[in-house]
Amino acid sequence: MASRLPDGAPVPRSGELPPRARANVGARGFGVYVHIPFCASRCGYCDFNTYAPGEGARREGYVDAVLAEIALAKRVLDAPPPRVDTVFFGGGTPTLLPPDDLARLLDAVDGTWGLAVDAEVTTEANPESVDPTSLRALRRAGFTRISLGMQSAAPGVLAVLDRRHTPGRAVDAAYEARDAGFAHVNLDLIYGTPGETESDFAGSLQTAIGAGVDHVSAYALIVEDGTRLAARMRRGELPYPSDDVAADRYIAAECTLSGAGFGWYEVSNWAASRDAACRHNLLYWTGGDWWGVGPGAHSHVGGVRWWNVKHPNTYAQRLAAGDSPGQGRELLTDDERHTEDVMLRLRLSSGLPLDALDGAGRAAAAAALGDGLLESSAFEVGTAKLTLRGRLLADAVIRSLL
Ligand SMILES: C[S@@+](CC[C@H](N)C(=O)[O-])C[C@H]1O[C@@H](n2cnc3c(N)ncnc32)[C@H](O)[C@@H]1O
Ligand code: SF4
Repeated sequence: MASRLPDGAPVPRSGELPPRARANVGARGFGVYVHIPFCASRCGYCDFNTYAPGEGARREGYVDAVLAEIALAKRVLDAPPPRVDTVFFGGGTPTLLPPDDLARLLDAVDGTWGLAVDAEVTTEANPESVDPTSLRALRRAGFTRISLGMQSAAPGVLAVLDRRHTPGRAVDAAYEARDAGFAHVNLDLIYGTPGETESDFAGSLQTAIGAGVDHVSAYALIVEDGTRLAARMRRGELPYPSDDVAADRYIAAECTLSGAGFGWYEVSNWAASRDAACRHNLLYWTGGDWWGVGPGAHSHVGGVRWWNVKHPNTYAQRLAAGDSPGQGRELLTDDERHTEDVMLRLRLSSGLPLDALDGAGRAAAAAALGDGLLESSAFEVGTAKLTLRGRLLADAVIRSLL
């Protein structure tokens, strides 16, 4: 949940959607995203819409504000209510709220639309913000999946990233989650941090695999403007990340994770089985509908995309006045939807059907095949699927196809 929001047309105070958007909601799945914009402290690299103590965001009343937005969503998405296939609590650090608060929010989602019997319910968590008792409470409340920010197993790298936990805490939290009954546990890694060595990252991968999780996400460090990390780089205290190093680390991630039985299903995500893939993220990437509740949250329903006001206090004020917290919205044109579809689906291992491309796009795909960026076996059966080299250059391949 990046901190800058795009411009757009105003959202009506009622939050009402055009009738066209309300038809067929959930035809490709329906999910709910719940944003919890609080962290114990801000990591130096992170520009997510989140607030540490003393940064002016009120926690009191936050849950009630989110409940008010869920009630508004119920009025807007009247009949027939879509069944909820996936729920994702993200942040920030959702697990900074007591498990009872997260349970109240999940109950409200269930009471509003009904959770599918096999719904996936994920929460993100900082490893420091959970313990065996809270994890058991989250399982009892209906959470099925947890995603822990590990980032690295190297103490020096964690220090550059301003992480507060020890490397061992993420591993312990993963075990505690398994013991509490979570069948699906993810660890997030960041690679390419200044000072990280090849063996640091190899150790991080081995530690994540050794923690018995069934999912690993690995992201190249992005230097976001306005962060402490960016300021340190500008002052010359730390070097900027190198693209070549990031490519080497990505190849190491693929080799080590695939060797341990994990398969990539999206450029930055590996799962130990089909069931272990994050269904909520797959819903985003395959054109599903979702309502995002919370400040700065984005929603996508029936071709309308909107986003909420960013600050938690403004968000709560809007809802207290009975108004939608929506800040802006856009009705996607068919061309825009097509562009998004190509961008998202090409990053998936399931690939993009070649017939989704126009003539120029298919010619560019043939050229990408010749350059070793697309897999020939998939191409022969009409699918553009990235090779390992293609994944390293995914953005350039996408640009060429569009
Ligand atoms: C909301 S956080 C995860 C939960 C929890 N807040 C934590 O950090 O442990 C989402 C993930 O985004 C990734 N992330 C955030 N900022 C990033 C950046 N600038 N570059 C790369 N990855 C980033 C981190 O891997 C982080 O675990
Ligand atoms: S704990 Fe997570 S969301 Fe919070 S500042 Fe750190 S990376 Fe960002």
